[in-house]
Amino acid sequence: MSVDLQEHFDETIAHERRIEPRDWMPDGYRATMIRQIAQHAHSEIIGMQPEGNWITRAPSLRRKAILLAKVQDEAGHGMYLYSAAETLGAGRGDMTAKLIGGRQKYSSIFNYPTLSYADVGVIGWLVDGAAICNQVPLCRSSYGPYARAMIRICKEESFHQRQGYELLLTMMRGTAAQREMVQDAVNRFWWPSLMMFGPPDADSPNTAQSMEWGIKRHTNDELRQRFVDMSVPQAEKLGVTLPDPLLRWNDERGHYDFGPVDWDEFKAVIAGNGPCNTQRVARRKAAHDEGAWVREAAMAHARKNPERVRV
Ligand code: ACO
Repeated sequence: MSVDLQEHFDETIAHERRIEPRDWMPDGYRATMIRQIAQHAHSEIIGMQPEGNWITRAPSLRRKAILLAKVQDEAGHGMYLYSAAETLGAGRGDMTAKLIGGRQKYSSIFNYPTLSYADVGVIGWLVDGAAICNQVPLCRSSYGPYARAMIRICKEESFHQRQGYELLLTMMRGTAAQREMVQDAVNRFWWPSLMMFGPPDADSPNTAQSMEWGIKRHTNDELRQRFVDMSVPQAEKLGVTLPDPLLRWNDERGHYDFGPVDWDEFKAVIAGNGPCNTQRVARRKAAHDEGAWVREAAMAHARKNPERVRV
């Protein structure tokens, strides 16, 4: 490695400019970006399953149209992100094989079941809310293709969050049974949403280096706190109780204090032992296998029409 190349990389990071695919980068930076982008892409694709579960049972045409649009957006996010990982030399087929083989991760949150239509609302409000909280700073991430993909993704996530909150507001104005469904969904998704931000800073092996490289802009704990602070007033407006008896405003800190997250549960879920891991990966594998003929046909078409494909 030439000193000039390393210096150029360090200067680019120090001046908050973007690293582009053509630029030299340390092997560790490339590996970290591939790891994070692949994991993010897999999360979007696996994330289609819990809500996709409700498309055929949406309570009205309007709700069905909204849910279909949202799940399609997630497919699109996965595609942008796989493309961003490809600019680093990662192969899409290889990433999919690693996901199915358990060698690359996806977000823990998508290993929980969706038991009622209120879950669609709560996923929009809390899960997409947490995703926005985590991803808005990633629009300033140092790797150009990732940062640019994140801008569009965040705009669409914002729509996802709002549709979820609006659905919950509607249900909370409905019958007692509907209000109970919302509260039950909040009880099940609150803690897993806090886990989305990753392990506590003291147990996060990647944060320090990723912050140094400008990949991450905030630590896991900082973003988790921001999410809690943002969600409490929204829960009050909605009229639901967040399932944490230790949740209270701390005047000195200027933040809400909250109870301990069950990190044993988090570790079990990312190790493959959450309630739905097996089902999620099996379904992904089946979809991939069933799509083999489409990939073969696309390749055959590309071979026959090289001029049209080369744009
Ligand atoms: N679910 C699954 N794995 C996780 C989670 C989670 N919620 N949080 C952390 N991990 C994994 C990390 O990937 C890492 O494992 P690895 O080294 O095998 O990849 C390990 O736990 C230790 O965590 P950290 O050192 O804190 O890892 P990192 O610095 O990558 O931070 C984070 C994790 C915050 C998730 C980061 O990768 C990130 O911001 N990713 C982009 C956002 C994203 O992927 N969102 C997906 C869900 S949102 C949605 O799809 C709607």
